[in-house]
Amino acid sequence: MKGFRNLSQIVTLSGVHKKNGRRPLMEDLHIIEDGAIIFDGEKIIWVGTTSNIPDNYKDVPLTELQGHVLTPEIVDSHTHLIFGGNRAQEYTMRLNGADYQEIAQAGGGILSTMNHTNALHKEELHSLAKERIERIHSYGVGTIEIKSGYGLNIQKEIECAEIIHELKKEFKGHVQIFNTFMPAHAIPSGYESGREYLEKVVYPSIEQIHKKSIIDAVDIFFEEGYFNKSDTETLFEFCKNLNIPLKVHADEFNDNGGASLACHYKALSCDHLLKTGAEGIKSLANSETVATILPGTGFFLGKAQANARQLIDSGAKLSIASDFNPGSCHCDNLLLIASLAGPALKLSLAEIWTGITLNAAHSLGLKDQGAILEGMKPRFSLFKVNQVDEITYNWGRNFAISV
Ligand code: NIG
Ligand code: FE
Repeated sequence: MKGFRNLSQIVTLSGVHKKNGRRPLMEDLHIIEDGAIIFDGEKIIWVGTTSNIPDNYKDVPLTELQGHVLTPEIVDSHTHLIFGGNRAQEYTMRLNGADYQEIAQAGGGILSTMNHTNALHKEELHSLAKERIERIHSYGVGTIEIKSGYGLNIQKEIECAEIIHELKKEFKGHVQIFNTFMPAHAIPSGYESGREYLEKVVYPSIEQIHKKSIIDAVDIFFEEGYFNKSDTETLFEFCKNLNIPLKVHADEFNDNGGASLACHYKALSCDHLLKTGAEGIKSLANSETVATILPGTGFFLGKAQANARQLIDSGAKLSIASDFNPGSCHCDNLLLIASLAGPALKLSLAEIWTGITLNAAHSLGLKDQGAILEGMKPRFSLFKVNQVDEITYNWGRNFAISV
């Protein structure tokens, strides 16, 4: 057993946990001033104020942490951090007026990163991804979801999933990694339809990778110009038969009914949601499927943001993730994105913290973290500030300390 004492604040989120992440209010953060916590490698044993530490724990070594704030662990539940090359030129083209979809149709976009990714050896991709994980972790993020999806052929997609699996083992006990398989990210040239690519590449690669038991979920880009509704349904049925959890990129450019489809298939999360209308919002509000918004992508592409207010007010479980990738959001700093999202999407501090901790964990099926409560996993983020408000108030500054 070990622990901390005299923490300026412990932001427990116990009220948020009780509400299952829906409609969080400031009082649901349940902040303990001058907090103390005792835990072992598996779970939180006791949490309260320093003056109330029970006598039976008086021999437990406690680190004095005055001037620090402890929160549930920050989770980045949506990244595409395994890729080669960069797309800085596309960003410049967009600043000069070009559109994301136009660039993609002209051979840029995901397919250009596919070429850069396929040009790299496994070791090179591994070391690039490792560097990115370390940087994200330095901001206080302890769990990171990583998607494959820039290989777009059987061999490279499997290689990327294997790299993520190796990194998961390497970072064990340090950073928790969630491995999402996303060969259905774009349709490379040479295939006439999404269906043909699914049949020739996606299903065979899922079958192979599933046998190795190394992936945690499958994702698909359900969007005009990429995969359509029938492709998405067929993939969902295929994964359901193999018992593989689902995630989906939907309603980014159009309201294509992706949110309702995700809820129907009990997907872990439905992500983007820029264009989700009343029906999709209602489905998410009545479901356990987490509504993951990616405000960094809206900022990066200069697009109108998701209707986060209506999602939360309707009762959906809202999460915020970075979407870190070379094209639509080349920003790996989730706390910066969350800080910017506050005023832009009209989110309260309680909604922001719920979105980057408890609901983000739920969007990866991790129900034993996201709140600082006895019995839950001891997964925290620690910051050198006196009050939780300071973290998002200081845009882009890093106060994280390794726990
Ligand atoms: O989530 N939407 C699909 N995938 C990424 C974009 C990837 C890229 O542009 O390279 C996203 O925004
Ligand atoms: Fe994405």
